[in-house]
Amino acid sequence: MFSNYLQNDPLLPNDAQLDLKRIPHHIAIIMDGNGRWAQKRHLPRTAGHKAALTTVKEITKAASDLGVKVLTLYTFSTENWKRPKSEVSFLMSLIATSFKTFMPELIANNVRVFVIGELTGLPPKTLATVQKAIKDTANNTGMILNFAINYGGRDELIKAAKDLATLAVNQQIKPEQIDEQLFAEHLMTAQLGQFTDPDLLIRTSGEERISNFLLWQVAYSEFVFSKVLWPDYSPAELKANIIEYQSRNRRFGGLKKE
Ligand code: IPE
Ligand code: IPE
Ligand code: MG
Repeated sequence: MFSNYLQNDPLLPNDAQLDLKRIPHHIAIIMDGNGRWAQKRHLPRTAGHKAALTTVKEITKAASDLGVKVLTLYTFSTENWKRPKSEVSFLMSLIATSFKTFMPELIANNVRVFVIGELTGLPPKTLATVQKAIKDTANNTGMILNFAINYGGRDELIKAAKDLATLAVNQQIKPEQIDEQLFAEHLMTAQLGQFTDPDLLIRTSGEERISNFLLWQVAYSEFVFSKVLWPDYSPAELKANIIEYQSRNRRFGGLKKE
């Protein structure tokens, strides 16, 4: 279906199928398949993570050029600590070193870095680089690039519940004041302002599960599953996934718009 379009320059604005006026404001991506990409090439899994970095840069640029407001990238889950120590430490140092090379591009594209996840759990060097990236891009006014690092949806919900319970015990709020809006204000995504909930959730590599990502926020997101392994994912594939999103009818529990 998209073969014709895939042969074109992936960012050609005159692409007939893509409606540039209906680009999803918030796209969240579960970047999956790095290990399988490497294994197919008889390379260590870490080679897949390294290759993934190039894709992160390309997709950030493509999303920013398309006018996406928030791009959330699932980078490391609270469950990923179960992996072999060597893979975990490779990933943690890759995060630290990659921010250094990524920064000039982010500044040039006016991209602002945010992070969701339990940052105190990160190795000091990784934490310092992440905090520096947030600080150094704080004045940028373009797309928000939101990395989910040591992030778990259940962990986030428990933290919100704890915060609200503490406020109630200290009599700063009454339990009956807790509604959807107040609850959402205590989630890690509250910093994203008006675009906390993804319009489009993409998972690469053919897996079709949520893996503890943004459990609250995806209540009405459109899900698109791409067969492509993350290191092979491209701006053309992103556009194809957005076209798929644009073909959906979002009803939010109401009735189909004519
Ligand atoms: C995604 O790729 C990256 C992280 C979860 C950090 P994987 O490492 O999960 O790759 P597969 O799923 O094993 O192929
Ligand atoms: C989800 O991928 C986490 C990230 C992409 C960071 P996983 O590869 O960890 O998920 P499962 O284990 O296949 O569900
Ligand atoms: Mg995986």
